[in-house]
Amino acid sequence: MAKRKKLKLGALIHGVGGHIGAWRHPEALTDASVNIEFYKQQAQKAEEGKFDLIFIADGLYITEQSIPHFLNRFEPITILSALGAVTKNIGLVGTLSTSYSEPFTVARQFASLDKISGGRAGWNVVTSPLEGSAKNFSKKEHPTHPERYKIAEEYLEVARGLWDSWEDDAFVRDKESGVFFDPSKLHRLNHEGEYFSIQGPLNIARSKQGHPVVFQAGSSEAGKNLAAKSADAVFTGHETIEEAKQFYADVKSRAAAYGRSGDDIAILPGFGPIVGRTQEEAEAKYEELTKLVTIDKALAYLGRFFEHHDFSQYPLDEPFPELGELGGNSFKSGTDKIKRVAKEQNLTLRQVALRSATPRTPFIGTPEKVADLIQQWHEEEAADGFIFHAATPKGLDEFVELVVPILQERGIYRTEYESDTLRGNLELPVPDNRYTKVKVNS
Ligand SMILES: Cc1cc2nc3c(=O)[nH]c(=O)nc-3n(C[C@H](O)[C@H](O)[C@H](O)COP(=O)(O)O)c2cc1C
Repeated sequence: MAKRKKLKLGALIHGVGGHIGAWRHPEALTDASVNIEFYKQQAQKAEEGKFDLIFIADGLYITEQSIPHFLNRFEPITILSALGAVTKNIGLVGTLSTSYSEPFTVARQFASLDKISGGRAGWNVVTSPLEGSAKNFSKKEHPTHPERYKIAEEYLEVARGLWDSWEDDAFVRDKESGVFFDPSKLHRLNHEGEYFSIQGPLNIARSKQGHPVVFQAGSSEAGKNLAAKSADAVFTGHETIEEAKQFYADVKSRAAAYGRSGDDIAILPGFGPIVGRTQEEAEAKYEELTKLVTIDKALAYLGRFFEHHDFSQYPLDEPFPELGELGGNSFKSGTDKIKRVAKEQNLTLRQVALRSATPRTPFIGTPEKVADLIQQWHEEEAADGFIFHAATPKGLDEFVELVVPILQERGIYRTEYESDTLRGNLELPVPDNRYTKVKVNS
């Protein structure tokens, strides 16, 4: 059996917050989504808590009904480049869509971030759920869900190939002889595929972690297969430990079909713990959050997952409406689950909307209780770690001050960084350059 790896932690920095009413919290900084000082403070706080990484989510289409944070926020690579300069060890993971970008540009951007930060970059590969995104990228149609994953698969092969363009000792830089680089260590990809035709080479070499760490976020069958085949880490979401264990075992076992070990993939569910000195205090904080969301806003929040469907047309206290295939081409794994749970539990539209807008996490309670749950999920193979998001404006500060020391005392979480690269801290192997010959001792 593989050695149990130490618990991993990421911090999603999400401006004014992940739900529609979060910005109205009495302690919220209302311009947080575009406030560089806020982003710096959160990144440095996460580094103080020895987090493996900070994480920037993203999207490419907004409407008046979007979550406030989505309306006015930083582009991921740009903000991460700035945060790399004010941090030292923490990983920098940014979201970028394979459906609406070019592999040469994106491989180059992440390779640059990786070198700028000394091997701390990561790329959260997403396929873009929202159909409206096509309207912002001169495309007639949003690719279908299966096609988006086919594009993503080829895209990742291309990006990894481009990242290997230069062998690690290719740049000789010998002023005396006038040799800047060794041409035998420069490689053109010459990729001709179904979606991409790319010659290469890339105009930047590898960082000391080889390739940026590749995250994948998407939990459908196709999403899990992409993760098993190509990802170093998975960002996912689960409400119960049972569901998380099932997903964990599923993705890890799929890896074998692609000649990989499950240990090569870190599975990190998102979570937003709410910590209080007592259980009652934590519950009161959760109640306060639920009061920030009106039913109209909750319906709009729910609608976004279903292509901004107008749920205000249905009676609130009747069973959740039949939606047919709606949502299947956007957040498929998410919308499939909403429909299934509504049916199984006989929920009304009001219940579904409120549960979606202010989901109740199991991680509500005293610091010890939250630490117990984290330890249980980790030990029982429901998670290799978590991507934290602040449920309340001071959530990250409180977590670092109150929960992290307990995890450290228990010896399940680091007290110092093991490495200055993201791969090093995540205990992930540095990929060999595909062109570098195995050196045989003579
Ligand atoms: C935990 C999680 C986080 C995600 N984060 C993003 C994101 O930041 N930006 C984005 O465009 N899509 C994001 N997605 C959407 C996926 O990339 C994908 O398009 C969508 O979930 C549909 O794929 P699926 O059915 O495989 O889940 C996320 C999905 C999950 C499950």
